Amino acid sequence: MQRWTFSPDTTDPSAVPEFAQAVAALKAGRLVGVPTETVYGLAADASNPTACAAIFAAKGRPHFNPLIAHVESLEAAQRHALFNARALALAEAFWPGALTLVLPKRADSPVCDLATAGLDSIALRVPAAPVMRALARAVGAPLAAPSANRSGRISGTTANAVAGDLGPALAMLIDAGPTPVGVESTIVGLTGPEAVLLRPGGIARERIEQLLGARLAAPAASATTTEAPQAPGMLSSHYAPGARVRLNATEVLPGEALMRFGPDLPQDAEQAVAVENLSPDGDLTQAAARLFQALRRLDSSGAHSIAVMPVPENGLGEAINDRLRRAAAPRPAT
Ligand code: TXA
Ligand code: MG
Repeated sequence: MQRWTFSPDTTDPSAVPEFAQAVAALKAGRLVGVPTETVYGLAADASNPTACAAIFAAKGRPHFNPLIAHVESLEAAQRHALFNARALALAEAFWPGALTLVLPKRADSPVCDLATAGLDSIALRVPAAPVMRALARAVGAPLAAPSANRSGRISGTTANAVAGDLGPALAMLIDAGPTPVGVESTIVGLTGPEAVLLRPGGIARERIEQLLGARLAAPAASATTTEAPQAPGMLSSHYAPGARVRLNATEVLPGEALMRFGPDLPQDAEQAVAVENLSPDGDLTQAAARLFQALRRLDSSGAHSIAVMPVPENGLGEAINDRLRRAAAPRPAT
């Protein structure tokens, strides 16, 4: 695997020689680890079914979950999906950025059925990270990219995390430092009469609802997204570290690591085997940016369990709590 490291201040990543190599690898159907502003992505040419199959194989995804197609602009997105007024308003307000729209797929879109899992809808996002947009433009097709982690494990927010999880599967890994947002994009479904929040993420629900002038609906129990609860009260295990995760902790038990949020200390904090504070000032944006790295660090402390202090549910807290609840959910036997 070739590693290309560049500073996030590089104004034109496409002028760097490694850029052409990344484009050639993608055009040849290979996988490239790519930074986005949310988390690292495991990218392939979305119009190439063999390349998309390699994504599922590398991740060890148990079934073919549809992938997000990343494009360079709203104009490019309109070649793949039908945008109504609501979709246009959201795209204009939040793209480039951490919002994914699920829209009716155009019949003439070259995105392959494997990328969309054969659905008649498509998930589209224009990422803020310039290198990802430049790659999509140069490849001439959307880039299918799930989070760059083995299925069910913690999403990668640093290139080292990606290399550790998926290195051998990659033709190239593009390292632009830690991802600034830290949690995946918010996914809004616009294929029915109501706008549906399919996954909370890097753009807070409140901002989207304010723009729409309406509440976002909850996904139906039969939603196609596996990130959504399979049945009321049952969350699928995801983002799981090796250690158990114990939520809303008000005390630290023997042998536990501690994930703090804000200035408060739980009971018996001094006996924690390792401590991370998502945000000493209680800032939810900072906490989102640190979440997955903090989980990885606490997991590598060797603690059998991670005690997590309560995180408020407003703003990015909804996405943070969603990921923490999945990390704590009962795991399928492996
Ligand atoms: O921030 C992100 O969104 C990152 C970066 C790399 O862009 N990507 C990401 O992808 O989180 P992934 O594959 O881990 O999650 C994509 C989610 C899946 O839960 C999938 O079920 C849902 O998007 N999805 C994709 N297409 C869909 C569709 N047509 N209908 C409903 N859900 C869809
Ligand atoms: Mg993921």
